[in-house]
Amino acid sequence: MKPKVLLTTPLPNEWIAQLDGKVDLIVNMERNSEWISSSTGSPPRVDGVLSMLTDRIDEEFLTQKKELRVVSNMAAGFDNIDIDACTKRGIPVGNTPGVMTEATADITIALILASARRIVESAMDAREGRWHVWAPTGWLGRDLFGSTLGIIGLGKIGSAVAKRAISFGMKIIYWEPRHNVAKGKDVDAEYVALDELLSGGDIITLHCPLNNSTLGLINRSALRKMKSGAILINTSRGPVVDTNALVVALSEKWISAAGLDVTDPEPLLPNHPLYQLNNCVILPHIGSATFGTRRRMAEIACGNLLAGLEGRRLPYCVNPIVYGEN
Ligand code: GLV
Repeated sequence: MKPKVLLTTPLPNEWIAQLDGKVDLIVNMERNSEWISSSTGSPPRVDGVLSMLTDRIDEEFLTQKKELRVVSNMAAGFDNIDIDACTKRGIPVGNTPGVMTEATADITIALILASARRIVESAMDAREGRWHVWAPTGWLGRDLFGSTLGIIGLGKIGSAVAKRAISFGMKIIYWEPRHNVAKGKDVDAEYVALDELLSGGDIITLHCPLNNSTLGLINRSALRKMKSGAILINTSRGPVVDTNALVVALSEKWISAAGLDVTDPEPLLPNHPLYQLNNCVILPHIGSATFGTRRRMAEIACGNLLAGLEGRRLPYCVNPIVYGEN
């Protein structure tokens, strides 16, 4: 009998071709999160799950899926999964690091440019008839050349953003939330304390995972420390920023602008106050949304899934402790 795999959202056949003939797929065609976790929804017996970053894989889910042998998340981040609960049951969890680095760095730069040069606001003004004459003081933004970019989390994506920013003539400072120490790096960047980064960055961009130490990291007090002309960019996870504090900071001009690819909550519904602010650019979490990147993410997720089902070590495992490794 083939292993049963819960695919929590439909994916193009060619992205998951590796699974052909090897598993019985149960696809959540409606993308209904309750269907995935409720006892009346998806079948209780599944051997593997191929999950998205929006699916909660928690105690409740794991308690129902007693046969589960592998969780494969089609994302680099895994804050949607209770890793301890999986580890306790000996279930390896896979993710898809690395492949989305360049696409996410590109969208970060797009948000930096959009925010610094007021791209969305001025394009809307042109389209809606507010472009009357070439105005010497119209739609002024800030120069990237000569600006300081503060990076929180100089991992793969943070470094890829730094390389791009250096080519724009920016100076890079960074801080690491993980151990609060400098790390080996292959870009020209200076390690500073968090407060120095907040007060010294013209543009501050977040590239850290969401966990207990980064939840609400950019809160009222952090926003207060930023320069009044500063721009905040978030392409990591929404809850790293305190959304209510950001609304106040942008409305009261504590900082000049924000560019967000991730928000808290997601989706951010159209009546949210952030959409009323023309100094805030919001994208619907599209950091990795290129044909090539999403396909590679799906392929890696399938590779992890099959490895788990076949009892092999997952190529990309976030809890290797299940194999006795640290
Ligand atoms: C995307 O946000 C990811 O973590 O893969």
